[in-house]
Amino acid sequence: MDIKKRVFVGMTGASGNIYSKKLLSYLSQQNYHLSVAATNNALLNANAEDNTVYKNIEDFLERNNLNVDKIYDINDIGADIASGSNRVDYSFIVPASMGYIARVANGISINLIERLTDVALKERRKIAVIFREMPLSKIYLDNMRKLIDAGAIIMPAAPAFYHQPKTIDDLVNFVIGKLLDSVEIDNNLYKKWE
Ligand SMILES: Cc1cc2nc3c(=O)[nH]c(=O)nc-3n(C[C@H](O)[C@H](O)[C@H](O)COP(=O)(O)O)c2cc1C
Repeated sequence: MDIKKRVFVGMTGASGNIYSKKLLSYLSQQNYHLSVAATNNALLNANAEDNTVYKNIEDFLERNNLNVDKIYDINDIGADIASGSNRVDYSFIVPASMGYIARVANGISINLIERLTDVALKERRKIAVIFREMPLSKIYLDNMRKLIDAGAIIMPAAPAFYHQPKTIDDLVNFVIGKLLDSVEIDNNLYKKWE
């Protein structure tokens, strides 16, 4: 019997695949059952950011030396993790596009990541989302408020600077450390304020 806690990472088409890589890399070294799915727009974005062409999510993971237990097809709306009876303990949507936020805030779930979000919210499970967009319209804010009211944790991809970051990795570690803190997953990705 699989007694590991189940963690899902969904990647959508906002900028910041560097955050997904860090999250996946960190979680893969912990004792979790780790699964992942990505939208086509997440991969398009990763292509632009990494100046390459990823054939698919498998290619993305392999070329970035990321090991996961299971890769889901974004269109597999009938996957086990999209059902209320299959518990996913922690879901992270990193990065989250405003399109994704708009759809799930309004009960629309077209792909697997959206359906899984729908289920996490109705089952009151832990789901944390990192968005990256600026400036913010009232529509974005209204949608994010709806999601927070429904139980999601919403975080901006906004690193702090009081910990004296020297590298991009320091900035990314801070954001992902705070994300993990938000669902009470202990981590030492950044130096806590003393
Ligand atoms: C190069 C590029 C960068 C983008 N960056 C962002 C972004 O930072 N934040 C965001 O919310 N949307 C961004 N978008 C727009 C989303 O990709 C778009 O809304 C898309 O429909 C989201 O699809 P998905 O939610 O199915 O992944 C970007 C699009 C492109 C092509």
